[in-house]
Amino acid sequence: MADRTLRVGVLGAGTWARGAHIPGWLRDPRCKVVAVCDVDPAKARDAARHFDIPEPADDWKAVVSRPDLDVIDVVTPSHTHHELAVAALEAGKHVLCEKPVAYDFRDTWRAAALARRKGLLTKLGFTFRYSPGVGYAKSLIDEGFVGTPFVFNGYEQNSQWLDPQTPLRQVDPAADPSVLQVSSLEGYGAPIIDIGHWWVGAAYARVVGTMRNFIPDRMVRATGRMMRMNIDDGTVFIGEYANGAIGSIQTSYVTIGNYPGIEARIYGSRGAIICRLVEEGGVAETIRVATPSQVEFTSLEIPQRFYPAGGHPRESWRSLFYANLIKDFIGEILDGGDRNQGNFEDGARVQEVINAVERSFRERRWVDLPLER
Ligand SMILES: NC(=O)c1ccc[n+]([C@@H]2O[C@H](COP(=O)([O-])OP(=O)(O)OC[C@H]3O[C@@H](n4cnc5c(N)ncnc54)[C@H](O)[C@@H]3O)[C@@H](O)[C@H]2O)c1
Repeated sequence: MADRTLRVGVLGAGTWARGAHIPGWLRDPRCKVVAVCDVDPAKARDAARHFDIPEPADDWKAVVSRPDLDVIDVVTPSHTHHELAVAALEAGKHVLCEKPVAYDFRDTWRAAALARRKGLLTKLGFTFRYSPGVGYAKSLIDEGFVGTPFVFNGYEQNSQWLDPQTPLRQVDPAADPSVLQVSSLEGYGAPIIDIGHWWVGAAYARVVGTMRNFIPDRMVRATGRMMRMNIDDGTVFIGEYANGAIGSIQTSYVTIGNYPGIEARIYGSRGAIICRLVEEGGVAETIRVATPSQVEFTSLEIPQRFYPAGGHPRESWRSLFYANLIKDFIGEILDGGDRNQGNFEDGARVQEVINAVERSFRERRWVDLPLER
């Protein structure tokens, strides 16, 4: 398949498709974006014009069933992901899907199993796994820099929704306001849970956590008005990984700081790595390391091989990290599929942790993993 150009159809022409996905595909000469589809035809037309994509469309079913497409990219609102991703797999396409594939981890496992049965590759929008700094850290861990992993601390947070007037999309306006709804843990927690699994080299065996609503009334994007929104805008949990390491995760919509707001720390028997993805002074990421003989943390320069073509440390994290994600997915497909990182199985594992932390909070107890299927 190495000499083929992949043909891609993008579903959704909203903010994230325009800011990260489509620019990522266009940056890689090994693919061609053939169609962009949005249920709002004006949005599809505008994106097609702006990015010079030949075919705007407004019927996702027609796009998914096109025999001339190899890859479907799902960048629609979260509650639609599962239906669209499964339909694309059923139609024999490789699928890149924004997170989450589904709110119930079991649906994501089933989608992963469908892909496996059909010999198709999947990838989730775990943007931060593909940051040059996080990738470099993973290569250091694989080379033994950290030794046996002891502790992982992960944060994903920024102050995007500290102001209640900022319209929030990650809510269900029809939800019962007397019951706390999972939101920041799902929207912001997924990528850092994923990095923890990846760096530590194991899944969680048990978790316990708590979550809280800090801003009672918010502007809801779907309704355009202020509403009582009983969502977790802050969550903290701790856990034990299956290989003996322990970890903590904090996610929030209302903790002051800049985008992306990720910090991942791993401490092991031989070394420690802190990777900070917080845009400050025009630079989106830093990586710092220490060892038992050099306990003062020092900064490392991220080698060029961890950047996509034309990428550099002062590029916007949105396009920089996503270009790496898409470059990686295209390589996986063209190389024949033996390697497939950040796939639906990884997504299901992350979603299972989210579901377990929610259960832990509701029942005020430790929850063992894996959950019953
Ligand atoms: N991975 C990340 O870092 C990251 C960052 C931002 C957003 N996201 C995710 O990306 C997704 C899209 O977010 P957004 O901010 O672009 O939202 P958006 O509302 O700006 O865009 C979504 C678009 O999808 C269209 N749409 C809805 N149903 C559709 C369907 N069935 N077929 C085709 N088009 C359809 C809508 O009309 C809209 O234009 C969300 O799931 C969001 O959580 C991920």
